[in-house]
Amino acid sequence: MERNGEKMGFAGKTILITGAAGTLGRAIAQRFYQEGACLALVDLDAEKLERAAAEEGFTERTLLLPADVTVEEQVAGYVEQCREHFGKIDVFFNNAGITGARSRIADMELQHFRKLMEVNVSGILLGMKYVLRVMYEQENGCIINTASHKGKMCVAGSGDYAASKSAVIMLTKVAALESAEHHVRVNCILPGIVRSPMIFENQKKKNPALTEAEIEGSFAKSIPMKRMCRPEEVADAVHFLASEEAAYMTGTELHLDGGTTAVSL
Ligand SMILES: NC(=O)c1ccc[n+]([C@@H]2O[C@H](COP(=O)([O-])OP(=O)(O)OC[C@H]3O[C@@H](n4cnc5c(N)ncnc54)[C@H](O)[C@@H]3O)[C@@H](O)[C@H]2O)c1
Repeated sequence: MERNGEKMGFAGKTILITGAAGTLGRAIAQRFYQEGACLALVDLDAEKLERAAAEEGFTERTLLLPADVTVEEQVAGYVEQCREHFGKIDVFFNNAGITGARSRIADMELQHFRKLMEVNVSGILLGMKYVLRVMYEQENGCIINTASHKGKMCVAGSGDYAASKSAVIMLTKVAALESAEHHVRVNCILPGIVRSPMIFENQKKKNPALTEAEIEGSFAKSIPMKRMCRPEEVADAVHFLASEEAAYMTGTELHLDGGTTAVSL
């Protein structure tokens, strides 16, 4: 379908996105909105969510659902509200996540570790738990979980984050096996370094004096393609996994890291 010369490949489809006010959530929401999809946007930060929706120009077909992905009743609530409002959930971009403490295991604060696991692992699990029930009833749907290249390779100081993203990859595979007979596909993406506030903030935890240009330059050196990933490139990958072109793909981990993990896998 086309409107004003634009492809409307997702017209009539509903996409539910968590972490929707953040860099990747916004990029994916924008991509699907342009293609005619209805958006159900979840984020912990209600004000940031409203601001993001206004800045992106989501003036129609959009439902804002402030919620905490770690609280089971709130997860059940955002899934139910999405289903009630739009009647179905075609695509679930299960994406909310936080960064690690950049702490050695010998210095790791248990409180921080638990918090990270709550958001990055329990949040992903709970989202799938409630969305899968809807998709099993529909006998179709697809889920894309956000993992990270850090789920496959480790560097010192990434123990908490790497463990959380590795868990996301395995939850994806198990969910894919359990869901295949229901015609529901479950895949995950493994972005490398995406040009985003999350990356700059994370590096500034190590050295507050660093500028964004210095951070970008030092990452570029270590990435085979010599540049960071753009959020729109993550949107392309999510779009592909959600499309009919990926109809036979489930349980897959899609790397988007400019070759970084090819070096160590
Ligand atoms: N930015 C990168 O380079 C990069 C690389 C690999 C993977 N990732 C992963 O991509 C995902 C999105 O990252 P981003 O760069 O867009 O980060 P971001 O910080 O810009 O966005 C994350 C969003 O999640 C929301 N959030 C945090 N805790 C939440 C909770 N408990 N309930 C609901 N929402 C919550 C935040 O309010 C924020 O808007 C994360 O899972 C992250 O680990 C990011």
